[in-house]
Amino acid sequence: LSTAAVIPAAGRGVRLGPGTPKALRTLGGTPMLVHAVRALARAREVALVVVVAPADGVAEVRTLLGTHGFPESKEIKVVAGGGTRQESVRLGLAALPDDIDVVLVHDAARPLVPVETVDAVAAAVRDGAPAVVPALPLADTVKQVEPDAAGGPERVVDTPERARLRAVQTPQGFRRDVLTEAHEKLADQATDGHGATDDAGMVERIGVQVVVVRGHEEAFKVTRPIDLVLAEAVLARRRA
Ligand code: C5P
Repeated sequence: LSTAAVIPAAGRGVRLGPGTPKALRTLGGTPMLVHAVRALARAREVALVVVVAPADGVAEVRTLLGTHGFPESKEIKVVAGGGTRQESVRLGLAALPDDIDVVLVHDAARPLVPVETVDAVAAAVRDGAPAVVPALPLADTVKQVEPDAAGGPERVVDTPERARLRAVQTPQGFRRDVLTEAHEKLADQATDGHGATDDAGMVERIGVQVVVVRGHEEAFKVTRPIDLVLAEAVLARRRA
């Protein structure tokens, strides 16, 4: 029995601005997706990495990954994704061989996650947790808002206690049977706009307890243009 990583990388990354699909944007000269695959393949636990590519980009991603080096003992597979992140993960899960019993789902958009974070998540699943998320406390206070019916500014309706909120990252780790069950039961929500924004959210919906391990500042998601500046700086510091 062993552990696989599924990396959804089929998003267009529109918030980052126009141009190449996000996973193929470069950081320090290397595509973000290659950084992400390396980060997961480096973890001792991980035997297989399944990359979920845009449906029209599978061949391109295979070529790209073929030209970059990964630890020799690690198998890398590329499959076609879907229209939402949830669908893409479901398609990645469907490509796993039978001997996989633990799955780590990791966003291609978090290319700089340290191997220690990957190891901590995998270890917590091996130690018996059905679902594990890495998370950090928030710097900002968070408000819940609702739109103004007349088209005016949004209105604040609640301020949750900051000390009890966490910003959740990836990789999120699961017992394979738990994650597969969640994706099967909730498949119809993937396309109707009520899809979960992370995998732990899905297993919560089927009543499974999720536990938290400490995340890492460098596991941030590259979403907006400013994140590229930060990611380049982190890489430069690592290489110094
Ligand atoms: O859009 P968001 O930032 O939540 O995307 C998180 C991850 O999900 C990204 O790595 C993105 O490539 C992936 N994704 C996907 N298939 C989609 C949409 C997003 O694999 N249809």
